[in-house]
Amino acid sequence: MRDLTGRVVVITGASSGIGAATAVACAEQGMKLVLGARRRDRLEEVAAMVRARGGGVELLVGDVTDPGNAAGLLDLAEDAHGGADFVFSNAGYSFERPFTETSEEDLRAMFEVNFFASVELCRLAARRWLEGGRGGHLILCSSCVSKFPLPYQGIYAATKAAQAMVARSLRHELAPRGIRVSTVHPITTRTEFFDRSAERSGFSEGEAGRNGVPDHAPRLFVQSPERVARAVIGGMRSPRSEIWTSWTVRFSAALFTLFPALQDLVMGRQAASAHPRHDRADDRG
Ligand SMILES: NC(=O)c1ccc[n+]([C@@H]2O[C@H](COP(=O)([O-])OP(=O)(O)OC[C@H]3O[C@@H](n4cnc5c(N)ncnc54)[C@H](OP(=O)(O)O)[C@@H]3O)[C@@H](O)[C@H]2O)c1
Repeated sequence: MRDLTGRVVVITGASSGIGAATAVACAEQGMKLVLGARRRDRLEEVAAMVRARGGGVELLVGDVTDPGNAAGLLDLAEDAHGGADFVFSNAGYSFERPFTETSEEDLRAMFEVNFFASVELCRLAARRWLEGGRGGHLILCSSCVSKFPLPYQGIYAATKAAQAMVARSLRHELAPRGIRVSTVHPITTRTEFFDRSAERSGFSEGEAGRNGVPDHAPRLFVQSPERVARAVIGGMRSPRSEIWTSWTVRFSAALFTLFPALQDLVMGRQAASAHPRHDRADDRG
């Protein structure tokens, strides 16, 4: 088990949800932090929680797709703390929308944030570690849907599967050079994620769900962002390829791979329950 005290972590998407909870959990481990996101006020709130736990923290306000954002985060880690030991590439978003109603612009925009920006930060960090002759640990926030895409969320699932696929290959390229690569596969997590997804999807308040979680999500499979944060800390201390927070869903993913007809049956039911809210969203224009 690795001691995390004094280690330096860069976290994107740190202004809310899983990123914010992980920032606080890292501070509780005695780590130093560099946090990024677009909302300055929310990032400042997280920074205050980190400082209250004795953690040193630097902030970079900006969009992960901004040219220079990834380099800026790593520069901050170098200037303030001597360089990153961990990168948690976590910023991401979703919408739930019929594929045929999704514009090419929206499709590409999601890939820019969830995939291209995410792997670019990892690419730059790994290059710096290789040039500096030092090790490090890349952790990409993927999703359980990287293994079994839900209807109306195929693009999102594709971004998360693409991330995971790159990571799966990269870990073998970098392992001999002392660099670890992990992916995180959270199940439904109570964050702003679904509220923001509902806004982008054109759902009414009732269809958006309650407490940040859509009504159709089975309550058994809903977790807190702190649970994901604890799993990420576990993965930092004891590195592994994939960090999961639910054995049931992990086992289901394996079953779905073995038996695609079973996956089709379950996803067909999911689709049937989702059709009406999409029809209504369409009617509202
Ligand atoms: N919630 C779930 O059920 C769930 C399940 C599996 C995987 N995940 C993944 O977990 C990660 C974190 O999501 P969350 O649940 O914590 O949702 P969240 O509360 O909405 O947090 C998303 C974070 O990403 C940041 N972000 C989004 N777009 C950005 C951009 N273009 N540039 C910079 N920052 C950006 C947001 O900050 P600003 O808006 O301030 O920029 C926010 O800090 C995502 O990658 C998501 O795909 C979530």
